Order: sequence, then C-alpha cells, then structure tokens
Amino acid sequence: MALDSRIEKILWNEDQISRRVSELAAEITDEFRSSSTPPVFVGVAIGAFLFFADLVRKIDLPISLDFVRAQSYGSGTCSNEAPVISSDLKVNVQGRPVLLVEDIVDTGHTISSIIALLKAKGASSVSVCTFLDKPARRKVEIQPVGQGKLYRGFECPDYFIVGYGLDFAELYRNLPYIGVLKPEHYS
Ligand code: IMP
Ligand code: MG
Repeated sequence: MALDSRIEKILWNEDQISRRVSELAAEITDEFRSSSTPPVFVGVAIGAFLFFADLVRKIDLPISLDFVRAQSYGSGTCSNEAPVISSDLKVNVQGRPVLLVEDIVDTGHTISSIIALLKAKGASSVSVCTFLDKPARRKVEIQPVGQGKLYRGFECPDYFIVGYGLDFAELYRNLPYIGVLKPEHYS
C-alpha cells in the first residue's frame, strides 16, 4: 500500500507486524497447549481489532473469543485515568484462563481496569498480550493474574501513533502499518 500522505513516518510496516504477530502466536500457543479448559481470548475494542484478528488466526487450539470495549480518550492524545468499559463480556470466564489482547499500553490505566474486571468475574488466570508498549508513560504496572504471563510485540517510543487499529479522533485505524502523523494532522 502506498504511504498515506498524512503520515510523516512509518515505525512498523506490514511485514514487520506480520512477523511479530507470528512470533507472539507461537509463544501464546505454547502457554495454552496443555490447558485443560479452553482459554478465552478477550480483545479490547476498537483499537485491538486488527491485531486480535491476525493473532487468533495463528492460534491452532480450541479457544473462545469475546470483546470488551474501552474508551480512554476523547478526541485528543491524552488518556483518561478512569477509562470507561462501555461494553462487557458475553462469554462466561469463571474458572477459565483468559488472554487479554490490547493494541497499546500507555499509562496502564485501561489494561489495569480490564484485568480487575476479569479477576472479579472469576477468571482462573489473566495473561496480557499488548502489541505495543510505551513504558516511558507508565503510571500503573501491568499485573497478570495467577499464572498469567505478559507478552509485548514492540516497545514504542513516546510518540502518539496511528494505524493497525489505532486512531487519532477516530481516523487512521484502517492503515495496515503503524506510523506517526505529520504534526498539522494532530490539531
Ligand atoms: P492507557 O490507559 O493510558 O494505558 O491508554 C491505553 C489506550 O489508549 C489504548 O488502549 C489505546 O486505545 C489508547 N492509546 C494510547 N496510546 C496511543 C497512541 O499512541 N495512539 C493511539 N491510541 C493510543
Ligand atoms: Mg485501546
């Protein structure tokens, strides 16, 4: 795909994304291969929808899928300390291992709220797989539950990025790569 004229630079292109997703899928398959109860993979909508779709197609095990919907930003680039979990699970996670699939962890408030929700619903463990991690901005550490593990695709520099599910003001989610906008598009 040609570079969108609104993008200043690409941080990860489609090939790099696809290779990293395959590596993560292999590690996650190892974790759940011997699970006696099929795990529930929970995607955080909307941002993680492409990563979630790419990841689950590479998991050759019985799994259930569901989404929660979290809204941490209005139309700006600063996240909210109290993200709204606006849509809840349909699948019962009681007594089942869960893998929470997120696009990016920034301050950590969103992922922590969702981990707490899954714990309260009785998940036997909560592993977390975030495609991107921005550790420079962390306020709350990511704490998997029980035997749960933590997976990260790439460490992201402290830029506001778009593409591969990530938006700025609900645009750019459909870009197949991850990049930084030209400054004039962030206003
Ligand atoms: P946190 O609660 O601060 O960790 O924010 C996490 C959420 O904010 C993620 O689920 C993303 O949807 C969004 N987010 C964080 N950083 C970025 C970014 O650079 N671009 C687009 N969305 C982001
Ligand atoms: Mg998100």
